[in-house]
Amino acid sequence: MNRWDKKYKELDFGYGEVPNVFLRSQESFLTGLENGFVPADGQGRNGVWMAELGLAVRTIDISQVAVDDALALAEKRGVLIDAWRDDLKTMQWPTDQWDCIVSIWVHMPPELRAQVHTGFWKSLRPGGLIILEAYRPEHIHFRSDFGTVGGPPSAEGMYTEEILRSDFPDGDFEFLEEQDVLLDEGTGHQGRSATIQARIRKPL
Ligand SMILES: C[S@@+](CC[C@H](N)C(=O)[O-])C[C@H]1O[C@@H](n2cnc3c(N)ncnc32)[C@H](O)[C@@H]1O
Repeated sequence: MNRWDKKYKELDFGYGEVPNVFLRSQESFLTGLENGFVPADGQGRNGVWMAELGLAVRTIDISQVAVDDALALAEKRGVLIDAWRDDLKTMQWPTDQWDCIVSIWVHMPPELRAQVHTGFWKSLRPGGLIILEAYRPEHIHFRSDFGTVGGPPSAEGMYTEEILRSDFPDGDFEFLEEQDVLLDEGTGHQGRSATIQARIRKPL
């Protein structure tokens, strides 16, 4: 059992059952797409919502506990998702497969992040979208001030505009904003948080 399994066993839908607010704001760009991939989808709130929009959704997470919860959430909502336990460190990336990739709070050491983002780009079809929200380094101040706000323990795995532009040099950044948002996501993310939000299109 990994540390995420332990965390998810303790928490009843730790980040809630409703989708991330930034993701929801991107609904008009997702509607009508055929499929989507949601890496590190946790207990499935984002992938299940995308399935409700009509997309064929594949999700992965390193925690089997979370994957089981995601499948149960999909069943409860009456949709199907293709949810698997997998590790972003070792997963194989298909070519030109996904209409969209939704990356919400996926924080990794810099080398792994660059490797994973190369995989995103390979597996996104031309014309496809990456929708991403992640913490900025400034979040470390909010994190130390308030215990329940969540986020990685060090700024190293957080994101900046420069990092995103460097990881996706050919991307068309249709939306890129730094935000200080008031998160209300289950018990895991409560309070003011420094984030970066992006919608990046792979050119045709
Ligand atoms: C902060 S949670 C966010 C979960 C989900 N994206 C959400 O917004 O509700 C981070 C997730 O990353 C997953 N994770 C961490 N390392 C991973 C890895 N190497 N491969 C796949 N998933 C991983 C964890 O199990 C956890 O579910």
